[in-house]
Amino acid sequence: MTNSIIPPFSLSLPRYVALANAIEDAISTGQLAPGQQLPTHRDLAASMGVTVGTITRGYGEAQKRGLINSTVGRGTFVTIDSQASRLPKIPKQDGNIIEMGSVTPLYSTDPPIQDGLKQLLEDAQVQQTLQYCDAVGHEHDRKSGAKWLELYGMHVTENAVIICAGAQHALTCILTALLHPGDSIAVEHLTYPGFKTLAGMLGMRLVPIAMNDEGMDPHALDAVCKKDTIRAIFVMPGHQNPTTSCMSQRRRNEIVRVAQKHDLLIIEDCAYDLSASSHFTPLAAIAPDQTVLIAGVSKYFGAGLRTSYLTACPELRNKLGRAVRNTIWMASPITARLASMFINDGSALSSLINKKEETRLRNKLAQEFLQDFEIDSLADGFFMWLKLPEPWTGSQLEMAARERNVSIFCADKFAVGSDPLPRAARISLTGPEDSNELQEGLTIIRELLSSPPMQQALL
Ligand SMILES: Cc1ncc(COP(=O)(O)O)c(C=O)c1O
Repeated sequence: MTNSIIPPFSLSLPRYVALANAIEDAISTGQLAPGQQLPTHRDLAASMGVTVGTITRGYGEAQKRGLINSTVGRGTFVTIDSQASRLPKIPKQDGNIIEMGSVTPLYSTDPPIQDGLKQLLEDAQVQQTLQYCDAVGHEHDRKSGAKWLELYGMHVTENAVIICAGAQHALTCILTALLHPGDSIAVEHLTYPGFKTLAGMLGMRLVPIAMNDEGMDPHALDAVCKKDTIRAIFVMPGHQNPTTSCMSQRRRNEIVRVAQKHDLLIIEDCAYDLSASSHFTPLAAIAPDQTVLIAGVSKYFGAGLRTSYLTACPELRNKLGRAVRNTIWMASPITARLASMFINDGSALSSLINKKEETRLRNKLAQEFLQDFEIDSLADGFFMWLKLPEPWTGSQLEMAARERNVSIFCADKFAVGSDPLPRAARISLTGPEDSNELQEGLTIIRELLSSPPMQQALL
C-alpha cells in the first residue's frame, strides 16, 4: 500500500477510524488488491506523522471489519476474501435463479409439521412450553438431544446437553462465554463463512491453517501455535464446509494431541456430519474436557425449529448456560419440544434417511455431469467442491454463472488469510428444487467451463 491512499484525516473522526475507512475505500476502488501487503505499523506511522498506537488501532479496526489480516512474522495483508461480497450483483434475467450457492436442507423431505403440532397439542406438558425454563433447556428436551447425539457417536447424558437456538447461536455462546475479544482462533484456511463473520463481529482474529484432503493439518497447527498465541480451533471433522474433507481417526487423534499440547479449546461443528459416509470418534469424545461439540438439527429435520444441541464438560457448561441466558434467556421450549417429538417418534430419522437418499441421487447426477472436472464430494453430501480447470478462477465462474442465472459460491467466500486462493467453487446440490433444475444448473456450469473465461465473456 502506498501511503497516498490514506486521505487527510477528518477532524470529525478518530484517526484510527479514518485509517480503517481509507483501507475500506481503497479495497472497494481496487487500489488495494486481495493479498496485497500493507506497510509496517512503524513505517506508516512515520510517513503519516501519527503514533504507532494509532496505526495499530486502525489496522485492528480494519481487521475487525474483515478487510486485513496480520500474521506474526510475516506482516499485514489485505484479506483474500475482501472483495468476495463486492462481486457486482447481476440482475435476474427471467426471475428464475437456480440456487447452487446456498446449501438449503431439502425442505421437501422435512417431517410433516402438522403431525408434530398434533402431538404437541396432545402432550400433557404442552402448557409448560410457554413458561420460562432453565437456560440450558428442559430435561426432557436435553434427553432427546442426548438421543440425537448418539447418531454422531457422542454418548452423553442429558446433563451434558445445552439446548441452543441453532448451531449459529451455539457458536455465539461458545465465543462469547469461553473466549475474549482479541483472542486468536485457528481455522482451516477455507472455512464456514458464518464463523468468519461471527468471529469478526466479536473482535476475534482467525488464523488460517493449511489443510489437505483430511482437513486441518496438525503439523501446520503445531507450527503456528509455537509462534502465535492461539486460544482455540474451529473444525468440522466429519464433513468440512466447503471442501467436503473428512478427518480420519488418525487425523482426529493428531489434532487433539496438538490441541492438548498447546491447551487449545476445540470447537467441533458437526453441522453436516450425518452425511459423512464413515463415522469416526468425535474430537469431543477423545478430549471431552477441552472440546465443545455442536450438533444442529437444521440440515436434517427443520431449520426453522432453530434448535441445536451443544455438549460440554461440567466446567464449561455453567459459562455456556450463562451465555444462553445473556443472549436469549433460553432457546424456545416450544420448538425444542417439537424437535424432541420428531426425534422420539422416529420422524427425524426418516427425514435423515430420505435426505440421504435424495442427496445420493443428486451426487451421482452431478458426478455424471461434471465427470470431466476434478471434484471433491461425499456420497451423501449436500454440496461438492469443484476444482476449476485453468485458467478459470472461482470469482470468474461465480460471475459467469450468475449471468446465466445460476448462483454458486467461489472459494473467496470461505477463505481466511492472504494466501493465494484455490481455483475452486462450492456447488450446492440441495439448493435446486428438483433433479431437473439441478441438471439445468450443472449443464450451465459444464458449458461455461468447456471454454476459457474470456471467450465466455465475448459470447
Ligand atoms: C458449518 C455450519 N455450521 C453452522 C451452521 C448454522 O446452522 P444453524 O441453522 O443450525 O444455525 C451452518 C449453516 O449452514 C453451517 O454450514
